[in-house]
Amino acid sequence: MKIAIVTGGSNGIGKSTALELGKRGIGVILTYRNHKQGAEEVIQTLEAHYGVRAMGLHLDLSQIATFGQFTQEVKTQLAEIWQRNSFDYLVNNGGIGGGMPFSDMSEMYFDQILNTNFKGPFFLTQALLPLLEDGGRIVNTSSNASKSAPLGFSAYGPSKAALTSWTRYLAKELAPRQIRVNAVSPGPVLTNLGDGAFDKHPEFIQPLADQTALGRIGSPPDLAKVIAHLLSDDFGWVTAQDIEVSGGYLL
Ligand SMILES: NC(=O)c1ccc[n+]([C@@H]2O[C@H](COP(=O)([O-])OP(=O)(O)OC[C@H]3O[C@@H](n4cnc5c(N)ncnc54)[C@H](OP(=O)(O)O)[C@@H]3O)[C@@H](O)[C@H]2O)c1
Repeated sequence: MKIAIVTGGSNGIGKSTALELGKRGIGVILTYRNHKQGAEEVIQTLEAHYGVRAMGLHLDLSQIATFGQFTQEVKTQLAEIWQRNSFDYLVNNGGIGGGMPFSDMSEMYFDQILNTNFKGPFFLTQALLPLLEDGGRIVNTSSNASKSAPLGFSAYGPSKAALTSWTRYLAKELAPRQIRVNAVSPGPVLTNLGDGAFDKHPEFIQPLADQTALGRIGSPPDLAKVIAHLLSDDFGWVTAQDIEVSGGYLL
């Protein structure tokens, strides 16, 4: 059985990705930050509906000093649950969003965005690399905002541009181990990103749908299916790519 680690699997795109992988018979270690309950519900669904083993671990991507301990916990769980000392797929999905005008931006907010969305996945991947199988796969959740320039996202967009750029570097450096590394770039997706911005402001949704060629904003399964395919053998000759998954947002 293949095993995937999905960061930010308690909610939104990561939750949907964990479920999509489970549907395909893949065991899942998912991480949560604040929503342990959300993680537990996903694990229950994976085990009860798809018959795969799954477990959840706490992870805060902005706390790089904890990654050594996290890696040890992963090692322990791989051995206890799957009798393995390695895993196959890493989905660097956990992240934070939310806008703030450039003129108001504090160093603390800047660090929070960059540490969570770029520095965290960067060093987490480094910590987990010895456990990733040769021939393994990595998918990073970037964003359309790395290329477009939505107002108020002057820290978020560049944090994702860094993630996309790093994807290419990592693909080259890990190629000798036959590890493929790709990214997906969602347009707007109906999730809790930005502290539930779409819940608080449902009026934001239609204007974004109006700017999307296919006429709606994305749903988490729209992304999850692409991530699962990118991890699969069907994409065995694809590496170092950032695939926009946006229904034609801002075309
Ligand atoms: N939604 C969009 O429109 C959109 C567009 C482009 C890109 N994206 C990207 O898609 C990814 C998933 O976001 P989403 O839209 O699914 O949002 P979401 O529903 O808010 O889910 C975010 C996930 O990331 C986790 N997370 C947040 N801060 C974390 C931290 N410091 N350390 C570890 N995990 C953390 C959350 O855990 P808890 O809930 O347990 O705290 C949650 O599981 C993000 O990287 C985001 O930037 C989203």
